Amino acid sequence: MRRMNPFPYQRPILPEQVIDRDVEVQKLLSWCDSAMLVRLDAPRRYGKTSLVRKVFHEAGKHGTVGVLCDLKGVLTLSDVITRLGRSYAQLRGPLEKMLRPVLTSIELEFNVSFMGAGAGAKLGARPGNEEAALFALLDLPQRFAGKGWQAVIVCFDEFQDVLAVPAADDKLRSAIQHHSDGCAYIFAGSEPRLMNALFSDKRRAFWNQAEPLELGPLAPADVAEYVTAQFAADGRDVGPVLRLVLSTAQGHPQRTMYLCSKLWERSQPREPVTIEAWQAALDAAKLQEEHALDAEWRSLSGSAQRVLRAVTLNGGRPFQKQAAEAVGVPIGSVDRVSDALVGAYMLRQTGKGEFAFVDPMLELYVRDLAGSSLPESEADDS
Ligand SMILES: Nc1ncnc2c1ncn2[C@@H]1O[C@H](COP(=O)(O)OP(=O)(O)O)[C@@H](O)[C@H]1O
Ligand SMILES: [Mg+2]
Repeated sequence: MRRMNPFPYQRPILPEQVIDRDVEVQKLLSWCDSAMLVRLDAPRRYGKTSLVRKVFHEAGKHGTVGVLCDLKGVLTLSDVITRLGRSYAQLRGPLEKMLRPVLTSIELEFNVSFMGAGAGAKLGARPGNEEAALFALLDLPQRFAGKGWQAVIVCFDEFQDVLAVPAADDKLRSAIQHHSDGCAYIFAGSEPRLMNALFSDKRRAFWNQAEPLELGPLAPADVAEYVTAQFAADGRDVGPVLRLVLSTAQGHPQRTMYLCSKLWERSQPREPVTIEAWQAALDAAKLQEEHALDAEWRSLSGSAQRVLRAVTLNGGRPFQKQAAEAVGVPIGSVDRVSDALVGAYMLRQTGKGEFAFVDPMLELYVRDLAGSSLPESEADDS
């Protein structure tokens, strides 16, 4: 029987598919065990949600319940309530029976709706009601502590989006600060600038409140082991192509799986993986991402584009005079621009004055652009 493509790249993955991250899982488990608040930062598609789900899976073995509340795109308090209510409504097993009547009563009592077809904002809901509904939902971990569950981990995913809802962080904070031992919180986010606004600004409710954890790229040895094993399980020998995959994906979790998936589609059971297959896979990957990368590139300021170009030209060191000059950016502004790019998770700092692209596909894109438009002499400077 043909095996399914073992490299999913569009959604959070299953716990057993998670490469590396053992240290992070252990840390999160122990922090959650102590009912701490945790701030989890990583670029989008770096595996935050997958990691949280793995933590839930592990903690679940000891009776802890994980509640995953995705705040992506919330605009109103009513959105936040809907998302949180739905997260509880989606819990399965014995809890379902216990929670359903409670959730229904919250819906009725506060005139909100998060279950069933009519879920979503209710026009005309009084603001006072909304706040009370939010508090009632946030109070569920306490309410059933020791009755329905031993402990609860609530994860607010894409937490930075809560900034769009005025004072929502104040409300969340004031509701959860009274919580005692049984509940831990993970705030996952993919925009450092906004996450800093929430956690590193003295004027905000969550200032200095959470233990920080940041995800880095995947360890090459772990990626090598996983990828080799997946191909080998089907008699496909990935051989020397493995090196190309690793050096191209640079430990970016989603890019690793994405490139492997394209390679898988171009290889056969019981056959070695060829360099030609790799080249075709890479071309297909670039083509599929072209629109998204175009849009990302166009959304950048001219100076950001120039600094990114300088990073590709000069082995990751945009500060060298020659690199800055080659792309026409004043050397004095490289600092500010590269800081902003790091803060936006476009670049990551790898050493003093040295940077790497967070997304290796964006780097290839910028290199391809440079290759097609820069005169020979400048390309030679690299
Ligand atoms: N630890 C990992 N091992 C393997 N693949 C991963 C890992 N983390 C993320 N991925 C890949 O990245 C994709 C996006 O993961 P996801 O958890 O949704 O990221 P995020 O929540 O940070 O945006 C997954 O579909 C998978 O291909
Ligand atoms: Mg996610």
